[in-house]
Amino acid sequence: MEIESLLKEKRIFYPSNKIIENSNIKKFMDKHGISSYDELLKKAKDLEWFWNEMAKEVGIEWFKEPEKILEWNPPHAKWFVGAKYNIVYDAVDKQFKLRKNKLAYIWEGEPGEVRKITYGELYKEVNKLANALKEFGISKGDRVTIWLPMIPELPIAMLACAKIGAIHSVVFSGFSEKALLERIKDAESRILITADGYYRGGNIVELKNRADMILKDAHSIEKVIVYRRCDNQIKMKEGRDYWWDEIVAEQPKRCKTEIMDSNDTLFILYTSGTTGKPKGVIHVHGGYAVGVASTLKFIFDIKEEDVWWCTADIGWITGHSYTVYAPLILGATSVMYEGAPLYPKPDRWWEIIEKYDVSILYTAPTAIRMFMRLGEEWVKKHDLSSLRLLGTVGEPINPEAWIWYYKYVGNERCPIMDTWWQTETGMQMISPLPITPLKPGSATKPFPGIEADVFDSNGNSLYGKDIGGNLIIKSPWPAMLKGLWRAEERYIKTYWSTFKDVYFTGDAARIDKEGYFWIQGRLDDVLNVAGHRIGNAEVESALISHPAVSEAAVVGKPHEVKGEVIVAFVVLKEGYTPSEQLKEELREHIAKEIGKIARPDEIYFVDDLPKTRSGKIMRRVCRAIVLNQPLGDISTLANPEAVEIVKRAIE
Ligand code: PRX
Repeated sequence: MEIESLLKEKRIFYPSNKIIENSNIKKFMDKHGISSYDELLKKAKDLEWFWNEMAKEVGIEWFKEPEKILEWNPPHAKWFVGAKYNIVYDAVDKQFKLRKNKLAYIWEGEPGEVRKITYGELYKEVNKLANALKEFGISKGDRVTIWLPMIPELPIAMLACAKIGAIHSVVFSGFSEKALLERIKDAESRILITADGYYRGGNIVELKNRADMILKDAHSIEKVIVYRRCDNQIKMKEGRDYWWDEIVAEQPKRCKTEIMDSNDTLFILYTSGTTGKPKGVIHVHGGYAVGVASTLKFIFDIKEEDVWWCTADIGWITGHSYTVYAPLILGATSVMYEGAPLYPKPDRWWEIIEKYDVSILYTAPTAIRMFMRLGEEWVKKHDLSSLRLLGTVGEPINPEAWIWYYKYVGNERCPIMDTWWQTETGMQMISPLPITPLKPGSATKPFPGIEADVFDSNGNSLYGKDIGGNLIIKSPWPAMLKGLWRAEERYIKTYWSTFKDVYFTGDAARIDKEGYFWIQGRLDDVLNVAGHRIGNAEVESALISHPAVSEAAVVGKPHEVKGEVIVAFVVLKEGYTPSEQLKEELREHIAKEIGKIARPDEIYFVDDLPKTRSGKIMRRVCRAIVLNQPLGDISTLANPEAVEIVKRAIE
């Protein structure tokens, strides 16, 4: 399949000499006698050399040195084989010695409180919780589910698990309790760490009370640790529920860091796929540490004095990699903000940047488009001269939003790093470096040591041809997922069976004549709503679980701010009549099943849906109708009259 490339952006933006000369990557190149970007990319093709250098560059301290850098038995890669390691040593223990009084986090709560946490304090808090977890009998390999908002206790909880070798599974606090239950069950977690609630948009969002609704079905959970954030009324079950402050109060402030194998599991993070069941992506201690820290050091050019702000929620991979692990390994100072971006006014973010002298900002195109709609007055009210670099992630950025970001936020001074990557890749994969000439809308080129390409459906390279095809990665990279939690077959089928021994990303892209990558979006049935990945099938199964619904088809539709919104077609069961009230009920039902982010923007009641002879709903026909595109091959359609039914519904 060749995907038509509609977007052709011609402008090129060159980074200033000052930025180039001071960049970490320039220093790396000078050190190795590399004189150009192209030469750097070429030299990094020696993967073992390059990634071993990267490990040194970010100061990885192995307990025992690796015997081998890479062992590649497709589709499984092992990096830094034989090394003994724990990511928490580099992220916390070592920083305690090197930067005890430096701030690790500057946190702002939505109501306005500020907490400044030094590396010394972080070390102590992590150790105390780690000791408490040990007292609960948690040890290496046990799973702990964390359902916490954007408060410092979230990174602390993750690090405490990793320190003792337990595997964390963070569930985004915006997900519903049903989504939480599904993830607890799949991982068979022994502990849940949560909070009473958090602030969002001026309201308290409850967590513990909602967790209580599912805990009776979460049979693996032995203990629940609750952090007191809002002091809202909650119930504590004797013998199961414990207040965080009480269990850590008497704990020693030191705790032994578990010596792990470099390829031992660090965390599971669930992400959407094409079926209704989320998949548990597994990342490991060693390679992941090298991958995330080196990309942050060289793409975002982190220096000792920088103040870094990645606005993503830690519940997603972006926060795991670039708010927790990478900045801590580099000993950086990060900003964390709890609440809604427009609260109490649309300049909250700009106020934060000004207040803490943020020098590097990393956010999502959907946020930029939202701010763009509100007008640049809000940005202009603040002095953003501390900014040096900008970044985006999560979805393609349209050139208009890119230019707005460049002009009003970066004051035409800050290069924009448009980073393409995925939960599975763990680290940024295709992205400019501060020395790369930029084309708005293009993620530019693969990071050194990453071999990406675009293949046509027969597996032929479309490199430099400017024709859309399948974005693939040809060789392993250090932060590559180890697999899917207890789903080996799905791992192979999803990523490794489209092309032999080549990682299939699920994205469409084209590569222009100068080797620049232009990401075109997902090829599979996965939606990208405001930068969040949601499976069509997940929303459909949520709809079908409502008593009124017999069948459902869910498709995405382009949206100016969110990138994509959800459109649902619903066939009701006998005895139910369509109404606006029922639509609202279905939307609320989805919020309960998955989370608010998965609520459809449009719901249409229909009498029938296009189906194959075997009864499978043909989602792509619905999508073509919504997008007003040709229907494509409909020879397998068993009920052609359904096309008219769907068309009439949206008229
Ligand atoms: O479609 C791509 C899009 O987001 C998908 C990965 O989603 P997720 O695993 O939730 O991780 C998001 C944060 C890393 C990709 O398959 N995507 C991510 N970054 C970009 C992007 N699309 C275009 N440009 C990007 N910079």
